[in-house]
Amino acid sequence: MNILVTGGTGYVGSHTCVELLNKNHSVIIVDNLINSKIETIDKIIQITNKNISFYQIDVTDEYALDQIFINHKIDGVIHFAGLKAVGESVELPLTYYYNNLVSTMILSKLCLKYNVNKFVFSSSATVYGDNKVPFVEDMDLLPTTNPYGETKAMSERILLDVAKANPNFSVSLLRYFNPVGAHESGLIGEAPNGIPNNLLPYVTQVAKGKLKQLRVFGNDYDTVDGTGVRDYIHVVDLAEGHVKAIEKLTEGVKIYNLGTGKGTSVLQLVQAFEKANNIKVPYEIVNRRPGDIASFYADASKAERELGWKAKKSILDMCKDAWRFEKNYKDK
Ligand code: NAD
Ligand code: UD1
Repeated sequence: MNILVTGGTGYVGSHTCVELLNKNHSVIIVDNLINSKIETIDKIIQITNKNISFYQIDVTDEYALDQIFINHKIDGVIHFAGLKAVGESVELPLTYYYNNLVSTMILSKLCLKYNVNKFVFSSSATVYGDNKVPFVEDMDLLPTTNPYGETKAMSERILLDVAKANPNFSVSLLRYFNPVGAHESGLIGEAPNGIPNNLLPYVTQVAKGKLKQLRVFGNDYDTVDGTGVRDYIHVVDLAEGHVKAIEKLTEGVKIYNLGTGKGTSVLQLVQAFEKANNIKVPYEIVNRRPGDIASFYADASKAERELGWKAKKSILDMCKDAWRFEKNYKDK
């Protein structure tokens, strides 16, 4: 298939392009590089030894995107492009609603215009809100605590309605749990701007001495050791989930959790990182982070049943690969 990948130079998008190319799909990337670097294109080519088309375009620019649909025969779209910093979304709600919703609307409009009937969307486990764990796809969604989360819930709603009104248009909504790790080549991975908000990128920067120590946000939750529990998933497993999702998408709307089904606490992750890489990660316990919930993990059985997809990589793999990328990245 010829697949249009928006946000394809970003973290999850770049790994997905590699897996698509490995499965002999062709990839057309559209990204405005607001949160990624042009060098990623060369890295994808280096890993796969395959060519790709790249356009530096904003997905909210309908005219520019229309030209891509005219110039390429597109069979399906995977829509990663979006802004994703939770704290920033509270400060800049309009920027987030505009970017994340208008991009979804313009892309789906052009899909209908050019009869492109496969649309895969990057959603998030955040749409479950503070539901009972494990999260299952058919649960009622609860409000999220921030504009970023609302853009995911609203984009899902928009795509559901578009698919309902256009029976030929099929949509896969992929709810990611916590993507971590990097490609085993060490060439692509997660490189957040500034001080990371997410746990594993913070841990890797502490390990290399860039940050002094990890702050563990609360140890008084009702969890195995009092620290927050999440379902960390290796980004390469996640990328493979996208390939399966678009290959199997034939009709209607499909919703899948992409997680491992296993919860890991903050302290368990720190211990795993220390063991995997033989490095100490100093930490202190501080207050809870506002907006955090104690524990969440996926019921990942639907994706296994219907897509034949299951996350394979362990927490130790995630920690090793994240650290290899961080060390490599530092050398640049
Ligand atoms: P990322 O920031 O690394 O990648 C997003 C890419 O989209 C970036 O390359 C950015 O430059 C591009 N982009 C943003 N707005 C754009 C626009 N208007 N036009 C063109 N390009 C634009 O983020 P990621 O971690 O790879 O996440 C990919 C998607 O998955 C996002 O939609 C994100 O919300 C969603 N998601 C991510 C996580 C996570 O923890 N990484 C979890 C759940 C969902
Ligand atoms: C955060 C976002 C969520 C987003 C997800 C993946 C918030 C409130 N939620 O979720 O919307 O989908 O990232 O990008 O920001 N932790 C520490 N110290 C740190 C960083 C994190 O103790 O420096 C803890 C957190 O309290 C949490 C766990 O580590 O218990 C994981 O945190 P994080 O990586 O930020 O992911 P989420 O909280 O799941």
